[in-house]
Amino acid sequence: MKAVSTTAASLTLNIDGQDLSCRAGETILEVARENGIAIPTLCWLEGLSLWGGCRLCLVEIAGSPKLHAACATVCTEGLHVTTNSPRLTHYRRMIVEMLLSERNHVCSVCVSNGHCELQSLAQKLGVDHVALPYRFPKLAVDNSHDLFRMDHNRCILCTRCVRVCAEVEGAHTKDVKGRGILAAIIQDLDQPWGESKTCTNCGKCVNICPTGALTHRGTAVGEMVKKQEFLPYLTLMRGCGK
Ligand code: FES
Repeated sequence: MKAVSTTAASLTLNIDGQDLSCRAGETILEVARENGIAIPTLCWLEGLSLWGGCRLCLVEIAGSPKLHAACATVCTEGLHVTTNSPRLTHYRRMIVEMLLSERNHVCSVCVSNGHCELQSLAQKLGVDHVALPYRFPKLAVDNSHDLFRMDHNRCILCTRCVRVCAEVEGAHTKDVKGRGILAAIIQDLDQPWGESKTCTNCGKCVNICPTGALTHRGTAVGEMVKKQEFLPYLTLMRGCGK
């Protein structure tokens, strides 16, 4: 058990059997991470404002029948929190299955295959099949930007891109239109990305996207270009050409 030291502005709580202390105002997720306790997340990212949309960080709090989002729940004195249980794993798996079935997440042909947060969460949670019917929506790929690409088929609407664009870059080029399964990330007044007057081409949105929705151009499998022109030059310079 960790030593618990309390000051005027500190609280004590118990997470997964460990007695811990934290500062007033900290969330369960922050305290868990500070103490090496892993809670899965998708929409939360350190440095961005809270969204609380993905619900993967759900935890159990003793005395409360409902589940609570760890990223959005501020600690109070004496909380007893469970971050890992068969019930939580059941709901986390269900959320990942819903995300996988809602759009077109075909990992084998995705540019983010092998470095996708959704894919690795599915692997960690043991999601080896999806019990829900796939929707297979026909969604657009915005190829209009010189540097980047938006594939709406891979988007999980975590809004990290919207928040980093507004809160860190200060451009607020991106936003969300529509509701529910019809929601989509847009640029400015729903223009093609390449026509945006406010995008600064900083690439922050691409770098913090958890899936293959936002990518650099030229990284897709179909864009692989072989440069074989070097060979005649090489053989000439090595003196083996005739
Ligand atoms: Fe908490 Fe998404 S990480 S709701």
